[in-house]
Amino acid sequence: MFDQCVLRGRRFAPARFCAPLAGYTHSAFRRLLADWGGTGAVWTEMLAARQLLREDFAASPWLRRRPTESCVIYQLMVRGGDMLERILDRLGEHGADGVDLNLACDAVSIRACEAGSALFEDLPALRGVLEAARRFWPGLLTAKIRLGSRRPDWQARFRERLRALEEAGVDALVLHPRFFEDKFKRRAQHELIPWAASLTRLPLIANGDLANAAQASALAGHLAPACGLMIGRMTIAQPWLFAAWDRPLAVDLPAVWHRLYQYVLEDFPPAVALRRIQMFSKYFAANFAFGHAFYVALSTAPNLGELRARAADFFARSPAILAHPIVAGL
Ligand SMILES: Cc1cc2nc3c(=O)[nH]c(=O)nc-3n(C[C@H](O)[C@H](O)[C@H](O)COP(=O)(O)O)c2cc1C
Repeated sequence: MFDQCVLRGRRFAPARFCAPLAGYTHSAFRRLLADWGGTGAVWTEMLAARQLLREDFAASPWLRRRPTESCVIYQLMVRGGDMLERILDRLGEHGADGVDLNLACDAVSIRACEAGSALFEDLPALRGVLEAARRFWPGLLTAKIRLGSRRPDWQARFRERLRALEEAGVDALVLHPRFFEDKFKRRAQHELIPWAASLTRLPLIANGDLANAAQASALAGHLAPACGLMIGRMTIAQPWLFAAWDRPLAVDLPAVWHRLYQYVLEDFPPAVALRRIQMFSKYFAANFAFGHAFYVALSTAPNLGELRARAADFFARSPAILAHPIVAGL
């Protein structure tokens, strides 16, 4: 299931993708994911579009990519007035495999910029951004969306926006089937994917609360109209998730944590590195029966040396590993 798909003439095999997660899908994590293989493409975390004009693509942990990373889609937080021509030119010069527009983020700070969910809601502004993005970006262009705002006419509004995305020439959509207001409450409504797919000729990538191959198979009735699937939080917890999708894989968990630690240190200054490793450890902790103790110990570590010592101490006690980690609510 989801062994491959073709988007804008490019074949993605497998059609299993790592979702954009702010603070998580940075260069160090993408490097770790690439070591394992099995990921069709990775979305960067949301990048403020205008910031790209100032960043150093070779050094920035948000932008840099290594030759081992097969396909990186750069996700943009776009706001009206952004100089998309220059921004997208820069991405092209640096070999971006695709550009994704974030129309899903409902954070107050993002809405205040008229971006994310606010842009999705504002149809004229949305049309303007889509038209410019398509005009200046010749490659793969996707958009990440939710169902919209929970209101009586949400279905008509959703349909209208799918039409705008289609008319503008977007190549594919990532659908996280929750309402903006849901944040991460309730569950993703996978049963709405066939309905959404029936509204558009655009390929849909299904996202939200997906965890592994067995669960995706169990949801096949709902997921079948999608061309691919995208997983976020569980990929952070288990960077080997896609490599182990259809075959058993022996994983040395302490070695994975130490490798991430090392990679983050190579890409981030120490103060930021500490925070990034602590954030990763929150999801990684889900693999252990007493993962909460692991996370609490690490999240209160005052520096990198102490962080590493506390992790080594936890691993030395041969902690019990969970067969089915849960990331819901994290
Ligand atoms: C900590 C965190 C950061 C996120 N950052 C982004 C982001 O930068 N851009 C985006 O489109 N979605 C972002 N999301 C949403 C995820 O991409 C994804 O849609 C959501 O987590 C549901 O998928 P999952 O259940 O597989 O995690 C974020 C989610 C989390 C939990």
